[in-house]
Amino acid sequence: MTVSTGEPAHVASFYHLRDERPGHPHACAGLACFAARTDDPARWQAAQREPRLYCLGQCHRAPAAADAAGAEAPIRVRARAPVLLERILAGGATDLDAYRRLGGGRALERARALAADALIGCIEASGLRGRGGAGFPTGRKWAAVAAQAAADRVVVANADEGDAGAYSDRALIEHDPFRLIEGLSIAAHAIGAPRGYVYLRKEYPRAARVLTAAIDEAQAAGWLAGFELRLVIGQGSYVAGEETALLNSIEGRRAQARLQPPRVAERGLFGAPTLVQNVETLCAVPWIVEHGAQAYAALGFSRSRGTKLLSLNSLFCTPGVVEVEFGLPLRELVEDIGGGLRRGVLRALMVGGPLAGLLPPALLDTRLGFEEMAAVGGAVGHGGVIAFADDSAIAEIAAQVFRFGASESCARCVPCHRGTPRIAAMFEREPGGVRGDAREYAARIEALAATSLCGHGRGLAEFAMSLERHFPQELRACLA
Ligand SMILES: Cc1cc2nc3c(=O)[nH]c(=O)nc-3n(C[C@H](O)[C@H](O)[C@H](O)COP(=O)(O)O)c2cc1C
Ligand code: SF4
Repeated sequence: MTVSTGEPAHVASFYHLRDERPGHPHACAGLACFAARTDDPARWQAAQREPRLYCLGQCHRAPAAADAAGAEAPIRVRARAPVLLERILAGGATDLDAYRRLGGGRALERARALAADALIGCIEASGLRGRGGAGFPTGRKWAAVAAQAAADRVVVANADEGDAGAYSDRALIEHDPFRLIEGLSIAAHAIGAPRGYVYLRKEYPRAARVLTAAIDEAQAAGWLAGFELRLVIGQGSYVAGEETALLNSIEGRRAQARLQPPRVAERGLFGAPTLVQNVETLCAVPWIVEHGAQAYAALGFSRSRGTKLLSLNSLFCTPGVVEVEFGLPLRELVEDIGGGLRRGVLRALMVGGPLAGLLPPALLDTRLGFEEMAAVGGAVGHGGVIAFADDSAIAEIAAQVFRFGASESCARCVPCHRGTPRIAAMFEREPGGVRGDAREYAARIEALAATSLCGHGRGLAEFAMSLERHFPQELRACLA
């Protein structure tokens, strides 16, 4: 069953794409399209129309527009064991028979034969951490929801994939939708949830069609054994991907972040204890249940176990979605897997979306891991990898990030709502124009970091801190 969000006017007016038909003809204004803007200036110009669209998830062929041709991203595996992409490499499975033929469904059978505690213990022992950005231990989250004394519990798949530069969840849903449904069903069994939701962004109309058909088929075939699953389509809001804003959106409200505590594990959707989990996180679950926690924990390195999907933008010679093991040096990602840049020289690398840091080429020996990336002022984030060539100045990249931040602010906090357009303007200075005030800049970033209610404002502050750390000269050139 598919439902749509928000109906009263004060709710509808919050969302950028409320009046747009799915697949509307806009070009994309996301950061990967910005990085590739000189490849098609006319298309980039078209992307400046309102409402701006961040992002279509077609960063492999940026600058992108919402037509279907060429939307399929190349898919590769560079891990000892393909946890997530094996079935897609074998052609994908968009009906239940094909899914079962290609090995799907065995994990759900096994999970249903296990006690909830054993299942949660298996996910804990695997070392799986959330792939939506924060890297929180998944098993610990399941245990927290399962421990609530409540008659009702809910599981929600976060398919908002709003981080500009990331399109791996789109690939999973469009080519292997039953894997997500299986992961959700296993999670529901573990935490005792009779119902669940998938919250999917409107910018992915094909994913919506594929997933609607898959949920209907799974339910009609009795595969969900009474677990009630609904698909909710967003109406255009980046902050709706933040888990409390997402729950508000499903409830038919404006997608604004909630004050915490209570955590959503205690009081989430309609007041019920709620498990919110990213698509890729849930898609790893069937493999873990089938192959065992130890097999999963044997992949990866350090405190980052298993594999991660990365989405490479169009400036790489070989863009697309790639499954890698944690521990991969960024240099191998850029030079070997990505094949280097198809034009220009690498100016900076953005891994994990605009709320993570911007890294200079000097840091390419950093290895991919939650703690290792944080140590250099970056993040694994959602796994989007955007290479900026030397036709993008650091100030232009910063202006674009803060314009995006301003456009997507949910307006609950003044430093985020009012401050981010001011910061963008400081980076937008025309050649020879007036420089931004350095003290005002520092105060605005400090306020963003200290007072933001959600990770949107705090992430923008972290992006600014990465500029101070890695590009001080370029920053000073914008400020007086
Ligand atoms: C501004 C903002 C946007 C976010 N967008 C997404 C998103 O599109 N998809 C996602 O899975 N997580 C997103 N997150 C993270 C979610 O709040 C949440 O941590 C995640 O869905 C939990 O799932 P995980 O533990 O499997 O990662 C976002 C967070 C913030 C602060
Ligand atoms: S930091 Fe920004 S997006 Fe997050 S709650 Fe505050 S205003 Fe909304």
